[in-house]
Amino acid sequence: MKKETIGDSLRRVDGRLKVTGGAKYSGEYEVPGLTYGVLVPAIITSGTVTTIDTKAALRAPGVLAVITPFNAIKVPGYQPEAPTRIKGLKLFNDTQVYFNGQPIALVVADTFERATHAAGLVKATYQLQSHETNFHKNIEKGVSPQNNKDYVRGDVNAYKDAPIKIEQEYMLPSEMHNPMELHVTTAFWTGDDKVTLYTKSQGVISSQRAVANAFQLDAKNVQINSRFVGGAFGSSLRTWPHEIAAIQAAKMVKRPVKLTLTREQMFTLVGYRPLTIQKIGIGATADGKLVGISHESHSQTAVYEEFTERSVNVSRFLYDIPNVNTLYKVVPLNVGVPAPMRGPGEATGSFALESALDELSYAVNMDPIELRLKNYAETDLEKNLPWSSKYLKECYQKGAERIGWSNRAAKPGTNRDGEGLVGYGIGCGAFGAYRSRALAKIKLMPDGSVNIKSATSDIGPGTATSMVLIAADILNIPAKKITFELGDSSFPVAPTQGGSATISSVGSAVHDACIALKQKLNALAGKLEDSNDDIDYAKVLSQNNLPFLEITQESNANEEGKKYSMYSFSAHFAQVYVHPLTGVVKIKKVVAVVDAGKIVNHKTASSQMIGGAVGGIGMAMTEEAVFDDRFGRYINGNFADYHVPVNADIPQIEAIFIDRPDPIINPIGTKGIGEISLIGVAPAIANAVYNATGKRIRELPITPDKLI
Ligand code: MOS
Repeated sequence: MKKETIGDSLRRVDGRLKVTGGAKYSGEYEVPGLTYGVLVPAIITSGTVTTIDTKAALRAPGVLAVITPFNAIKVPGYQPEAPTRIKGLKLFNDTQVYFNGQPIALVVADTFERATHAAGLVKATYQLQSHETNFHKNIEKGVSPQNNKDYVRGDVNAYKDAPIKIEQEYMLPSEMHNPMELHVTTAFWTGDDKVTLYTKSQGVISSQRAVANAFQLDAKNVQINSRFVGGAFGSSLRTWPHEIAAIQAAKMVKRPVKLTLTREQMFTLVGYRPLTIQKIGIGATADGKLVGISHESHSQTAVYEEFTERSVNVSRFLYDIPNVNTLYKVVPLNVGVPAPMRGPGEATGSFALESALDELSYAVNMDPIELRLKNYAETDLEKNLPWSSKYLKECYQKGAERIGWSNRAAKPGTNRDGEGLVGYGIGCGAFGAYRSRALAKIKLMPDGSVNIKSATSDIGPGTATSMVLIAADILNIPAKKITFELGDSSFPVAPTQGGSATISSVGSAVHDACIALKQKLNALAGKLEDSNDDIDYAKVLSQNNLPFLEITQESNANEEGKKYSMYSFSAHFAQVYVHPLTGVVKIKKVVAVVDAGKIVNHKTASSQMIGGAVGGIGMAMTEEAVFDDRFGRYINGNFADYHVPVNADIPQIEAIFIDRPDPIINPIGTKGIGEISLIGVAPAIANAVYNATGKRIRELPITPDKLI
């Protein structure tokens, strides 16, 4: 039988379930006695709720309860005396309103439609306070976050004295994750102190901990199920207040409650990439050697919770620059709290850095790739450590070949093809290669099949498929004899799926569990521990009268890793056509080249790279949540008005992997691709647009009005 190995292209093991409707998402579980919760949003942007009239709603058909700050049972983890107090917004705990759309009540009814109807009947009165939602007006109120230190290497603002310098400001609007699947939680209590959830989650163990903390339960009495997730992009990294509210409601009505956000609520309650303004000052010698860089970033956050990300950090190490200073501040506003959104701060930061570097390339009259090569960082100057592996030069080279870089005109606006102005651009990035503790349980059955369980998640990359491939390779048995289960908090502990670390963490646990199983079987078969001979697993079991063999293996980051700086690297290339009269940009081709160590499954990895590039195209071209500061609301908080790229916007996207294992990070040599797939895409496009037109767009998205 054919045996698959790491590096193959394995089709998704759950692909058939997903495309035939057989995959059950969190909103699709039929629980006996299920009721439906619908949130009632505040219609003010700052103030307090003084009264809530629930009479009409309670009289409406099918309504079981209307939960408000005036009648809600207390969530113990929300109280100041809680041992581990829940961070952020505490729904129905008090009457304060921090942002428009913040839920002030939750209607529970016997159907979703009846709950929705009754939610419209809830009437509140408010004590208004003045609100601040305008980022630009409040930028001076930016504060340095507690967990962030400003950074200096060498001389502050050394760039100012360089022969050639660029000083510019770059702006990114707020962008919404907008996964296809809405956020939904079904909660039911199975005892006074036991609760079960079907919920959209990137980490069932972290959800379990959050719920246990909120209700002061023993973690083992909290069961989280999140087997299939219809996209998340960072919006399910944490347990949100509405999830806690669903559990609270289930306790109050003594029935299971399913709470589904509307698409409009997805714009205010589950985070977003925050509006960010970045100032870059970059200086170089006339022949393109970088002298210094200053990178300052201001992002919006909520008045009730501080959100931070690493938008300035990439400037500290991506290039060989002796003098670096970075500053990062957040501006608290009456808005919902942001959250990491794919690539998070690094994607935001690389837009500014890579745009500025492109501007510099024209100022010093140098090819942008030459400029990058001239300033190639051979070691990590921020951490003062060698790279565990870095093949960014190879990324430049491969990408340049595939995009046709030799056809790029050095002078902007001079390359015409028919009506179109043709441009080429490059954008690079780096994202930390992380690995954390993970466990996997492997079970060999008498028929020779293998089942592996780990409490990891799959928000789309194809986690189970890659895990099966790793196991097939190590165990040397066909993939179809292996099953991998995830998304269940009763499984062995695994980290949240975030920060591109699932293969590195959970994949290592699977790898190690398979080795442990093999060693055990070799021992049982009387072979050497590291024997590579094929053994018949089923036969070993029967000869030893074993009904099955089960091993739980823990896997951790190694000490050696501390001596190295570990990152995935990207070089994204774009070719664009711009219509000179209409300003319409047609992206012709994107080539995404990454050094992400060893690639486990080329099929799903390529798919993930394409997804990241599509996200980057959205960032560059269409996505922008627009605020109306008079009312403190988004004016395009829906899918009709908030534009994500559609098929017609997406060109040929080619994903290329350097595919050389990192020797340090983990036994497989993977560095992670989830974030790096997006980091650098938007500046590649913006730089291509400049190359085509001679117009530098420093405020995303690049809509036609900005080009004509
Ligand atoms: Mo990712 S932004 O760590 O889900």
